[in-house]
Amino acid sequence: MKGLILSGGKGTRMRPITHTAAKQLLPVANKPILFYAVEALIEAGIKSIGIIISPETGEEVRQCVGDGERWSIEIKYILQDQPLGLAHAVKTARDYLKDDTFVMYLGDNLIKDGVAPLVERFKTNKPDAQILLKEVPNPTSFGVAELNGNGRILCLEEKPAKPKSNLALVGVYLFTSKIHNAIDEIKPSKRGELEITDAIQRMITKGEHVDSHVLTSWWLDTGKKDDMLEANRVVLDEMTDVSMLGNLDEQSRLSGRVHVGKGSILKNCTVRGPAVIGADCVLENSYVGPFTSIGDGARVSHAEIEHSILREKCQILDFNGRIEDSLIGVNVELTRSQSKPVAFRLMLGDDSKVEVV
Ligand code: TTP
Repeated sequence: MKGLILSGGKGTRMRPITHTAAKQLLPVANKPILFYAVEALIEAGIKSIGIIISPETGEEVRQCVGDGERWSIEIKYILQDQPLGLAHAVKTARDYLKDDTFVMYLGDNLIKDGVAPLVERFKTNKPDAQILLKEVPNPTSFGVAELNGNGRILCLEEKPAKPKSNLALVGVYLFTSKIHNAIDEIKPSKRGELEITDAIQRMITKGEHVDSHVLTSWWLDTGKKDDMLEANRVVLDEMTDVSMLGNLDEQSRLSGRVHVGKGSILKNCTVRGPAVIGADCVLENSYVGPFTSIGDGARVSHAEIEHSILREKCQILDFNGRIEDSLIGVNVELTRSQSKPVAFRLMLGDDSKVEVV
């Protein structure tokens, strides 16, 4: 069995961050989202993974993930010229996949229980395809499945205006090679994409066995800023240990589950976990609240930060204010000339320079 991770796409909903960076490399608890996908597939026993990349961010993804040596597996990269849909991505990977069974994993998705139990189910039931569903409050934003009373799929629809259920398709699919014939038989949708939902619907219409499983644990689709913050919250909340590899002065306090990376210095700071502070950061006279992650090499002084992601090397200096529910890109410089305490909610792309007056 192979793995196919989709890490192309446009990432329009995450601009400006995705103007300069691949959304699949954004960090959750200081680890790129894509790594969670790779590790979930490895845990399920998969040793050969193909990653779909785009011309815009492909090189960055390749540099960051590498050839799989660090996990003792093989990773190949497959260039998709244009983001013409999830089924188009599978079509592009046809030579890599050959006639093998495979797990297709959307590179911006996170699921709590990983892939191993799904692969087990697939091996036991031997369907032609297996999809994963999850009850959601807003089904119009997803692929939606209608099931009959026995849990059998009646139909699938992509982002329906009038959804027939609240069961959304989660971004982890298992396929036999029959999916390739189905993809060859579908046409682009109204939005111009080859939809995987249409291909699976085609399999159902042809009488092929499409199994479904409803997920009860959490699933996160990190398409937008608030989804990223929620993913960060959920993953940090599951952290169980404390790790202090940096230096803390006598005026600083850590409470709860906090990780501080090697070479980081905290002076007169309070950190309330769950929170992660990377390596080589300098934090002074600041408060870091729950559900915050701060990337390697960041500098923060006179600031309060809570429920936020600060990326590597960002500098928030002499800020005298509060930052919450924010996503701050790599190398951002954020300063403020006022001292009146105010709270800010920000989404700043890489290398931004912002002075609040
Ligand atoms: P989406 O989030 O549906 O699409 P997108 O990344 O283009 O984002 P947006 O809607 O904000 O513009 O894609 C899900 C995952 O699949 C994501 O990791 C990108 C990847 N993908 C591809 O690799 N190729 C494609 O053709 C498409 C549509 C998505």
